[in-house]
Amino acid sequence: MEIDWDNLGFSYIKTPFRYVSRWKDGQWDEGTLSEDNTITLHEGSSALHYGQQCFEGMKAYRRKDGGINLFRPDQNSQRLNKSAERLLMPAISEEKFIDAVKQVVKANEAFVPPYESGGTLYLRPLLIGVGEGIGVKAAPEYIFTIFCTPVGAYFKGGLTPTNFIVSEYDRAAPHGTGAAKVGGNYAASLLPGNEAHKKNFSDCIYLDPATHTKIEEVGSANFFGITKDGKFITPYSPSILPSITKYSLLYIAKERLGLEAEESDVRLDELDKFAEAGACGTAAVISPIGGIQNNDEFHVFFSETEVGPVTQKLYKELTGIQFGDVEAPEGWIV
Ligand code: COI
Repeated sequence: MEIDWDNLGFSYIKTPFRYVSRWKDGQWDEGTLSEDNTITLHEGSSALHYGQQCFEGMKAYRRKDGGINLFRPDQNSQRLNKSAERLLMPAISEEKFIDAVKQVVKANEAFVPPYESGGTLYLRPLLIGVGEGIGVKAAPEYIFTIFCTPVGAYFKGGLTPTNFIVSEYDRAAPHGTGAAKVGGNYAASLLPGNEAHKKNFSDCIYLDPATHTKIEEVGSANFFGITKDGKFITPYSPSILPSITKYSLLYIAKERLGLEAEESDVRLDELDKFAEAGACGTAAVISPIGGIQNNDEFHVFFSETEVGPVTQKLYKELTGIQFGDVEAPEGWIV
């Protein structure tokens, strides 16, 4: 199949190999690469009925010298295990996880987009509860798989500002599963996301479920803002997905750009204090937020068409580290 590397969107393109490992009788098997992109499940699988599943999003980056980088895969491994723990699923050792990721990337090397295209190979680790059952309880067996697909920008235009609308729906509850990367959170976001798209917004902004006064997340990405006095702020809440990109940006803002950087409340009635705002995540990378619609009010940050200077610097440093153009903090690149 001919791939148009310069015009990749965020969609599924079949690649030849995926890793599959099965857990049974208290242990994981060795795992193997497979050419079959389907999974056959028992009809009583808990992943199908009770959402006992979790996943990760990560990428492989083609360097200018032709090599391939992984970005902080240890963080994905740790987060997957936290999600698994929340849903009573077995852990996967960091060694097994990273080895599986490397196997998948190497086996599908021809699908890591060229450096110049700006595309990446998106990897989707997935852990699901399977096997015979019907009661609401943890599954007797599990499948851990990692497949991959080459991708470009997640939000239309990549590093160009788009607009978002505040949702009336909640994505996650304070002591629920918002901080776990589980499919149910994304299922809950489909209807609000669809409503936002119908109104021509890129996605919706979710507020804190308890008071509906503070910004929590931007669709399936995290929120960050740059205050007028140059501080990097990203919301703090136990129901937000702990984004690896967001924690990397907190570090980059502080250590590389010399900004003050912190997790704190982002109140809807204080948006005026921000000079720039954006969405961040593995898939989204950094997507500048042009404006936010909240009921009848439309709040524009930097501009609906131009990217703010700090957002540009953060993007350049983050992607520079990921693609190997800029020296990475120790341990970030594999
Ligand atoms: C990611 O950023 O990798 C995600 O998992 C978000 C989304 C595409 C589900």
